[in-house]
Amino acid sequence: MMNLFEFAAAQQEQNPRAYYDELCATIRRNNELYYAQAQPEISDAEYDRLYRELEELEAVHPDWITPESPTQRVGNDLSEGFRKVTHPAPMLSIDDIFEHKPGEGETDAELVEFYQRLQRSLGQEAPLVVVEPKIDGCAVTLLYRGGRLVYAATRGDGRTGDDITANVRTIRSVPFTLPEGAPELLEVRGEIYMPSADFDKLNEQRDADGLPTFANPRNATAGTIKLLDAVEVATRPLRFLAHGIGAYEGTPLRSADDYEDLLKRMGIPCNQPILRAAGAEEVRRAVQEIDTLRRSLGYGTDGAVIKLADFTLRESLGNTARAPRWAAAFKYLPEQKETILKGITIQVGRTGVLTPVAELEPVRLSGTTVSRATLHNQDEIARKDIRIGDTVLMEKSGEIIPAVVHVILPKRPADTVPYSLYDAVGGVCPCCGAPIMQEEGQVAWRCTNFTCSAQAAMRTTYFCKREALDIENLGGTVAEALVNRGMITSPLDLFRLTVEELGALNLGTDDEPRRFGEKNAAKAIAALEAARKLPLERWLTAFGIPTIGTVTARAVAKYHRDLNELARGSFLSLLQELERGVELFNSLNPKARVNKGADREELQARQQELYAGLRDMAAPYAERGYVSLEEDGANKLKFTHPIGSVSCQKLRQYFLSPAGEMVMETLGKLGINPVSSVFEENLLTAQVGPLAGKTFVLTGALSRPRPEFEKMIAAAGGKATGSVTKKTDYLVAGEGGGSKRDKAVKLGVPIIGESDLISMLSPV
Ligand code: IVH
Repeated sequence: MMNLFEFAAAQQEQNPRAYYDELCATIRRNNELYYAQAQPEISDAEYDRLYRELEELEAVHPDWITPESPTQRVGNDLSEGFRKVTHPAPMLSIDDIFEHKPGEGETDAELVEFYQRLQRSLGQEAPLVVVEPKIDGCAVTLLYRGGRLVYAATRGDGRTGDDITANVRTIRSVPFTLPEGAPELLEVRGEIYMPSADFDKLNEQRDADGLPTFANPRNATAGTIKLLDAVEVATRPLRFLAHGIGAYEGTPLRSADDYEDLLKRMGIPCNQPILRAAGAEEVRRAVQEIDTLRRSLGYGTDGAVIKLADFTLRESLGNTARAPRWAAAFKYLPEQKETILKGITIQVGRTGVLTPVAELEPVRLSGTTVSRATLHNQDEIARKDIRIGDTVLMEKSGEIIPAVVHVILPKRPADTVPYSLYDAVGGVCPCCGAPIMQEEGQVAWRCTNFTCSAQAAMRTTYFCKREALDIENLGGTVAEALVNRGMITSPLDLFRLTVEELGALNLGTDDEPRRFGEKNAAKAIAALEAARKLPLERWLTAFGIPTIGTVTARAVAKYHRDLNELARGSFLSLLQELERGVELFNSLNPKARVNKGADREELQARQQELYAGLRDMAAPYAERGYVSLEEDGANKLKFTHPIGSVSCQKLRQYFLSPAGEMVMETLGKLGINPVSSVFEENLLTAQVGPLAGKTFVLTGALSRPRPEFEKMIAAAGGKATGSVTKKTDYLVAGEGGGSKRDKAVKLGVPIIGESDLISMLSPV
């Protein structure tokens, strides 16, 4: 298989026009993967190289350019399921200028060129510019009218974007209302991103929950803002920073200073640091300084943006079809180095996922020594045709995570063979020797043995995490020592440890012992004692069943009184049966193409019979608001229930597996049967809930993201609206919440606290 670059060279010589078309198509496909699917296949640097090549070809052959060329349009992130918003001012891209490799001319030649262009077109010696980091996130626009957030939207195709207000509302730093003196219309342009440390934690958690991990923080952000479930979004650590303004009606803004002042007054977080520079030399230095400063920001940046400071001058230069002429993004060279792939080791994760890891000849990259890099999974290895012994090009994507860009094919030794993870481990877990398997539709290979020792330490660590059973003292190293010294083989063994045994645990080596200590041990044992009484949802999280994280665990706990009831699984199997029945019903639709030629009456008769059976089955649960089963008029059944079908299946699998049975048996012996603390809370009974017909407005700082409360209110039959009117029944006010509180007082709307709302939700 040729890699992209070899393919390029071959094509270009033979038929340059065909090559140009191919290049356009490749870039378009990668745009789609990057913007719409948030699953890029090539690195940003690789993409930049392709794009640059396209620009160069177009400079030589301007007659080839069509409006469909990627250089003529902004990337497109539009997805289904979102309301569309037409941007009052287009959301443009920025033209990139690149740092050159040393030895290929001046490294910042393009920067100087850009600045000279500004000088020339403005007729000024040293126009003032601002220089700031280019955040590697997702562009978003926030539209405020009369000081209130009307909507938040993605860039989309630059003219029309996706309305992602519900998701953006979960980001704490985005204000819903602006203070006194807000402009009549203010469109704040900025970036949503995820801090690197939070990204690591999120991936760790996803791995623990058996979910696929994200390749980098930008991907995680792009995937998150396009989720259709704001409650899930609220659990993701997103942040926002502003970097510009779109439509605007208010006191005129003359310059970057006015803009920064305005945002500060409005309490909108602004991209930092912003340096000022005039003259080519100062600009060069500012760009260098940003390169140093950006490394300690804690989030990914992929360049510096240079913008003309004066707004009138910006206007005089205007825009091209895709980007302003008054700004440029300087892309720092991602540091890349070649090194040798010495081997591929396999790590067994807490849920048994086998992850291939590249073992490299150590190489210095952007300030650290890189000797290992995740290869993600077998598919990724096959796609890049990575083989042991290859020379590979390494790069730090977003300056953070080392990744293999591609193989250097000419340097491939003659005796390499394609890599197969399955063959490499002989089809068994490298840790415990149990068979591995690949679940349907999933790329990951997994160890099937729940008592696999590779998993014991990590399972124990997970079991003790704060959101699980919160046994503070028993994290990472202690869990590992316990497993390595044979004191436990599964998390539940912790309950059999005594203070003396645990206190004597050696965390060091045999030569240099370091005892855990009785004091720590006593604390841990006390925490374990307390954990016996923790609710079902916390225990369920602690089991670390694939796909059952804290959010799903809570949902499951709403429908089960206690663990024993859940483990028996009658509700779960009912859900599965109903789901299968509904699928069958819908497949019998006489109008469906598959049923062409079938006897219409017979199909309908079978549907009716089936529907009657399903309805009977669902009835007792539908009455309690656990599920809803409806015919939508077009011969389709709609079945709504609270636990996703994959989670249902994973839970059933777990409790039916030998490991699950053992867990239940052990818990039985220990006398532990966790009870749900959210049983029958906020079920599907929307029309008749305790808040039926009541309208609420939320304001101020609440303990959970607002969409969560909105969901709770809706589930209890109430309605949450944005502004206080005479029709509002209650204002739920956390700390702060100025203007809504004032309005409520004025209109005589009762103001209640969060705890009042909770008690209204579940009256005793
Ligand atoms: S200014 C008209 N400043 O990069 C566009 N953009 O590749 C002027 N970006 O769409 C944008 N950091 O979403 C600007 N400090 C920054 C930025 C920044 C990231 C994004 C922005 C833009 C994209 C272009």
